[in-house]
Amino acid sequence: MERVELRTIEELMAALHACRDAWDAPDRSGDPVDLHDHALQTAALLRRERPSDKELQVAGLVHDLGHWLHPGDDAGHADSAAHAVRGLLGERVARLVQLHVPAKRYLTAVEPGRALSAQSALTLDAQGGPMTAQEVAAFAADPLAEDAVALRQADDAGKVVGLDAGVMEDWRPVLELVARTAAAYAP
Ligand SMILES: [Fe+2]
Ligand SMILES: [Fe+2]
Repeated sequence: MERVELRTIEELMAALHACRDAWDAPDRSGDPVDLHDHALQTAALLRRERPSDKELQVAGLVHDLGHWLHPGDDAGHADSAAHAVRGLLGERVARLVQLHVPAKRYLTAVEPGRALSAQSALTLDAQGGPMTAQEVAAFAADPLAEDAVALRQADDAGKVVGLDAGVMEDWRPVLELVARTAAAYAP
């Protein structure tokens, strides 16, 4: 599969706008909000939880772009989204995006009674199921583990039909800020 890179804020904003009426499951059997509203809700929840962590917020905004880039590729959607934004938004954002599926596998292992949306429960198997004890230990040792769990919790909560979480254009200056910082620290 050809992997896509989003090279400018313009391209990224166009992708985010195109998520309007795009769905995590192309046949609409999945989560009840479209990818556009899910992105806005996830980012808004993270802004409330972590007002100063712009990278975490934008990671929430872009975390499911893989569903739009490659419809139907549940197992690969976190990696393809991470790849798409790495050059523009930097390594930390890319890793947080990548970790949103492992974080689900982690949380279902450490909190077996945890409620998932029907779609999340369905795709968990394709994504490897709950982590083994060894995988849990490795995940917990990652310096980004706590942030990845925060993103995952917002992800799970950001699926409310009809909830107004603002407009996509409000995120443009935040994305520009994160991109500028990433460019300044690029190796
Ligand atoms: Fe996802
Ligand atoms: Fe999501």
